[in-house]
Amino acid sequence: MSKTPDAGAAGTFDLDGETTVNRMGFGAMRLCGEGIIGRPDDEDEAREVVGHALDLGVDFVDTADSYGPGVSERLLREAGAPEDAVVATKAGLLRDDSGEWKPHADPDYVRNQVLVSKDRLGVDTIDLYQLHRPDPDTPFADSVAAFAELKDEGHVSHVGLSNVSVEQLDEAREQVDVATVQNDYNVANREHEDVLEACEDAGVGFIPYFPLAAGDLGDAAAPLAEIADEHDATERQVALAWLLGRSDVTLPIPGTSSVDHLKENVGAAELELSDDELARLTDAA
Ligand SMILES: NC(=O)c1ccc[n+]([C@@H]2O[C@H](COP(=O)([O-])OP(=O)(O)OC[C@H]3O[C@@H](n4cnc5c(N)ncnc54)[C@H](OP(=O)(O)O)[C@@H]3O)[C@@H](O)[C@H]2O)c1
Repeated sequence: MSKTPDAGAAGTFDLDGETTVNRMGFGAMRLCGEGIIGRPDDEDEAREVVGHALDLGVDFVDTADSYGPGVSERLLREAGAPEDAVVATKAGLLRDDSGEWKPHADPDYVRNQVLVSKDRLGVDTIDLYQLHRPDPDTPFADSVAAFAELKDEGHVSHVGLSNVSVEQLDEAREQVDVATVQNDYNVANREHEDVLEACEDAGVGFIPYFPLAAGDLGDAAAPLAEIADEHDATERQVALAWLLGRSDVTLPIPGTSSVDHLKENVGAAELELSDDELARLTDAA
């Protein structure tokens, strides 16, 4: 692999016929303090990680109003991400000091949050605005309608969903063009395989969150280690390369607070696995 990793080596995904992003993105949740609450110990270092990601060709960055809350969006703005990358943010979860994530996606709240996120990111239009999680206390159609209206009104360019089923994706697509779906998915967890397949069929981007299983790659660990050895790569790079090879619509967003880990992760963009290696990993979970 070359010395300077290049996110562009992962190939691109076209969000709408006009907006193309490199398929190796960056997840900005880990820029916050412990438990994804408050500031990190070193804000300069957090901004440095973002700056390095942009330098390595990352042009797709995922965040949410609830990361910090507010901290991740603010740091992205301070690091210049909204100028150089498509920034995908989200609304639909409340936080408190206990670290809990509480679904809250009634239309009034979503309409409030889009204004907050626009200001924090320093943009007139949010590139990709995602419903973070369906709210059991709000009809799903009402939450989606709020996102659709925000798109019609020009507050956001694209609408995405997160933590949804195939049925919810289908329901939402009757109300609005859905650009992306973001669900928990990695080499060790295929619970949302059906959602990935639905995204492939519809040409919708699939953003696998926890792409590194937040460090626990379970039963897939043994083949990952063998394949990593064959390529002189790391297991995490192979896990990311598997996501890129699994489908043309995947947009992995590995999250890190470390420049070294960032370089390792972006380095996976140029790791090509053979059909046999992809199959061994697919069969491992
Ligand atoms: N939509 C949702 O509900 C949802 C939920 C969770 C996450 N997300 C999004 O998905 C993104 C990715 O998820 P994630 O950050 O939770 O999980 P992840 O990418 O699977 O793993 C991140 C964890 O692995 C560590 N790590 C990353 N690269 C590493 C490397 N090369 N070597 C060793 N350790 C490494 C990180 O620690 P270090 O900081 O030490 O590198 C961090 O603890 C988030 O940033 C967020 O944007 C969305």
